[in-house]
Amino acid sequence: METILIVDDEKNYLVVLEALLSAEGYEIITARDAKMAVSILREADVDLVITDMKMPGMSGMELLEECMKIDSEIPVIMMTAFGTIEMAVEAMKKHAYDYIQKPFENETLKLTVKKAMENHRLLKENRLLAEALSDRFRYGNMVGKSKPMMKVYDLIDKVSNSKASVLITGPSGTGKELIAKAIHYQGPRKERPLISINCGALTETLLASELFGHEKGAFTGAVAMKKGRFELADGGTIFLDEVGEMPPALQVKLLRVLQEMELERVGGTRTIKVDVRVLSASNRNIKDDVAEGLFREDLYYRLNVIHIDVPSLQERTDDIPLLVKHFIDKFQEGDAKKNIELRPEVWKALYAYPWPGNVRELENVIERAMVLHAGGVITLNDLPKTLVSTETEFDVERFIPPHIPLSKALEEIEERLVRRALAQSNNVQSHAAKSLGITKSLIQHKMKKYNITL
Ligand SMILES: Nc1ncnc2c1ncn2[C@@H]1O[C@H](COP(=O)(O)OP(=O)(O)OP(=O)(O)O)[C@@H](O)[C@H]1O
Ligand SMILES: [Mg+2]
Repeated sequence: METILIVDDEKNYLVVLEALLSAEGYEIITARDAKMAVSILREADVDLVITDMKMPGMSGMELLEECMKIDSEIPVIMMTAFGTIEMAVEAMKKHAYDYIQKPFENETLKLTVKKAMENHRLLKENRLLAEALSDRFRYGNMVGKSKPMMKVYDLIDKVSNSKASVLITGPSGTGKELIAKAIHYQGPRKERPLISINCGALTETLLASELFGHEKGAFTGAVAMKKGRFELADGGTIFLDEVGEMPPALQVKLLRVLQEMELERVGGTRTIKVDVRVLSASNRNIKDDVAEGLFREDLYYRLNVIHIDVPSLQERTDDIPLLVKHFIDKFQEGDAKKNIELRPEVWKALYAYPWPGNVRELENVIERAMVLHAGGVITLNDLPKTLVSTETEFDVERFIPPHIPLSKALEEIEERLVRRALAQSNNVQSHAAKSLGITKSLIQHKMKKYNITL
């Protein structure tokens, strides 16, 4: 619930305003003088201030100034008596939101308050969104601030300055390539090239020549000398995508390059020295391949000095709102970004869907919806059928590990719900509390309990 602080030395006005505005669904705090109002502003979370201009002691104008010092975003509506219109103008210069003249029509007051609240909400949401997309939660083009992603960012930070090999694993579409890019572009090699190669997409011969290069005449079709990607990446980084698909013969060669930092081109005898940082990715668990003898154990340990495991989207549904907003922005045409709204049942469907294609699939779904939607509102009709028909029932087996005490399980669910509500309401606590049907102080209590910071 949004909170309004009303300040007036005339008790009658306080009573009338309180009755009028609490009937509109606002929470009302009243103060008989400006000093008291200031201490309330410091303590409570106030969304709007309505203050009389002339009061004994501290004036409304001084209160306005104090208020701007405490939180410059809080809208302040000044109430002026007949003949003090110049003061109202003065107040507007000092960033009051608006003024109303006493005596006022109830409807005028209600409308002014409603507009101020909307304005305030937009300001706040824009700021929170801008913050959410700022460096703290953003690595290159990566967004998301769920616990597992914060761990990933932490690892990126730690490894980007070293030359240690990093193996990035995780299901398809979880952002492994983005992570590789973030590591490279945050590190000291960022001015040098980042060269990628998909080890699963080429035949053994072609892959060898792509990686290590070849001399003229090394095989039929090798009409000229060609530098391999390791050479091209010299001083920079190579990203070996789908490294688990590397044929055994090339695994041996690769191991040598990693150990000695030198290679011979296919068909050549000259040894070429390189200085390359190696990042690799796989959506399969290479350890299993090692156990089955499909992947060399020594190579695995070389590649896997640091391991970053990227969670599936289903394991970090808290990130869904930020990702959705990120992709909406991405797929908006032109510079003037419009406010696009998602119907509540659309959010519900997005949360319930298991996302086998992870972030890539979500990106495609939003791109499609941005083409299909009308009037700035995305409805269920704009989603693919597979998403809409998903069983929305809560699947305990999937979300809660077995053999955990009931109280712990309930806490787990509660924490998730609180985090989700906050993320969905751009961290506006009062909105999140409302969507959960609890009071703001209760949500603050839960946030403390689960160590949730905004
Ligand atoms: N955290 C994120 N924030 C923003 N966009 C993301 C994020 N994660 C993934 N994406 C987007 O999703 C798509 C897939 O990401 P990426 O290609 O990095 O996945 P991948 O794990 O390498 O997938 P695959 O295993 O299929 O190669 C890309 O368009 C990427 O920009
Ligand atoms: Mg990839």
